[in-house]
Amino acid sequence: IQVVEAPHPLIKHWVSVLRDENTPSFIFRNAMAELGRLLIYEATRDWLPTIIREVQSPVGVSMAEFINPKEPILVIPILRAGLALAEHASSVLPSSRTYHLGMSRDEKTLLPSVYLNKLPDKFADGARILLVDPMLATGGTVIAAIDLLKDRGVENTQIKVVSAISSPPALQKLKIKFPGLQVYTGAIDPILNEKGFIVPGLGDAGDRSYG
Ligand code: PRP
Repeated sequence: IQVVEAPHPLIKHWVSVLRDENTPSFIFRNAMAELGRLLIYEATRDWLPTIIREVQSPVGVSMAEFINPKEPILVIPILRAGLALAEHASSVLPSSRTYHLGMSRDEKTLLPSVYLNKLPDKFADGARILLVDPMLATGGTVIAAIDLLKDRGVENTQIKVVSAISSPPALQKLKIKFPGLQVYTGAIDPILNEKGFIVPGLGDAGDRSYG
């Protein structure tokens, strides 16, 4: 597992806006979307095959490199909160496809359950998948989501997890279970409390996004 705690000042800025309990919902959602834009930019740096063709500019001819539109990045937001983080995926990426996955964590047992699954039965060989969820707390949700991908023929190296804030226990579990997986996160926070919340974290990402 490779964990990238993306150090860009803009990433720090948006994580800080998210942490602030005085940030109202509409700004929170916007901050989450901006953070997602930057993390997705980072995560796909080495993941976008290009094609070269000639273009005519107003003053001359140039060989020009474009993202190959035939090889879309597959974006899987884990609802609800992942929707906000994946908001700009389709504008950052010239070619992408979104599959929604709705999961919710039981407040007492902390176990995740799936309530919406729009994944295909099988993913194509070589598919590149961004799994987008703002919080990796106990890690139960992201692990269950990755298990669903693996059931559909996906290798660990075909998945990059994009998250706002991660906890060390979640990262440790991912490391043991899915070698070769990559995680792009805005921050790694030290504590996971008994209620399964990351501390200091940002609270409940879904509730803060959608009330
Ligand atoms: C939260 C969060 C993650 C999950 C993290 O979602 O957005 O998906 O919990 O917890 P875990 O790592 O311990 O599994 P929640 O179930 O509250 O759903 P929501 O996004 O609809 O609020």
